[in-house]
Amino acid sequence: MTHTPVMLPEVLRLLAPRDGGIYLDGTFGGGGYTTGLLQCAACTVWAIDRDPTAIARGADLAARFSGRLHLIEGQFGDMLALLAEAGVQALDGIVFDLGVSSFQLDDPARGFSFRGDGPLDMRMGNHGTTAADLINTLPEKDLADVLFEFGEERASRRVAHAIAVARAQAPIATTGRLASIIRSVLPPDRSGIDPATRSFQALRIRVNDELGEIERALEAAAQLLSAGGRLVVVAFHSLEDRIVKRFMTDAAGRAAAPSRHDPRGLLRRPTPDFKLLTPRAVRPSPTETSANPRARSARLRTLERLPANLADRERAAP
Ligand SMILES: C[S@@+](CC[C@H](N)C(=O)[O-])C[C@H]1O[C@@H](n2cnc3c(N)ncnc32)[C@H](O)[C@@H]1O
Repeated sequence: MTHTPVMLPEVLRLLAPRDGGIYLDGTFGGGGYTTGLLQCAACTVWAIDRDPTAIARGADLAARFSGRLHLIEGQFGDMLALLAEAGVQALDGIVFDLGVSSFQLDDPARGFSFRGDGPLDMRMGNHGTTAADLINTLPEKDLADVLFEFGEERASRRVAHAIAVARAQAPIATTGRLASIIRSVLPPDRSGIDPATRSFQALRIRVNDELGEIERALEAAAQLLSAGGRLVVVAFHSLEDRIVKRFMTDAAGRAAAPSRHDPRGLLRRPTPDFKLLTPRAVRPSPTETSANPRARSARLRTLERLPANLADRERAAP
């Protein structure tokens, strides 16, 4: 089993690592981006992953780049505290490659996939609520809301009802049983997408609080970046990309111009501290998507912290 890094050349080009720089790979996974960074420049990399198996797998790489790679098991939403504990106050570049790795997706025992059969788990880490907990205990209406909000499943009520009927007979414990319950009430998609895809995505996002994690991490990243430092984010579905896009656009002061009839809007436009380097998301090349179908939905966005500007200096003046 391996994980092929998505858009690695683009990520490295945009992060532009330099000798002596300090970088954060917030989603270590199989270490593809981290290895690229360490090979490109004589830099230091701090790498976070909430999955203890990913951190354990990184031990060899940490030994190979001894003193330059530091692995931290934890959630990137907590990165301010995790890095402060390690004595890191500022970073020259930060990268997030959102979602799950192929190691996680392809292992039926982790419960992420509707293709194989396994326990209905879906936790990237090894603590907290599992997908089975949610599926068997959430009230039907709340379950429908989760499927709608995080999976954009239009038939969320129908699916939630089928789940409620099935779990009344026996608790739903496996990915295979959940997938067949969903398929029993949803017709096959004309696009060939498995009808269970959206519900599985919804559960995974809810189990791991993925959207909350992204929001916390983006705020933290903006605080940690040094002048000229860059934040690169690769997102795989519209819910996460929407959050990234909005955050970066706002940080770069590119939100829709306020109406001149809206005095609060005029006051809200501070001198931006950031510049958007990707006005449009960067997409993988057709060559990459044909070699690695997982890359198909990837969208990469990049923000750069500007050097302290005149406005900052004026604010800081005694
Ligand atoms: C798509 S993979 C990263 C692959 C990596 N870029 C590579 O080249 O091998 C995503 C990784 O991020 C981790 N992850 C996802 N959300 C996380 C979070 N909130 N905190 C820490 N790690 C997270 C997952 O456990 C997974 O190992």
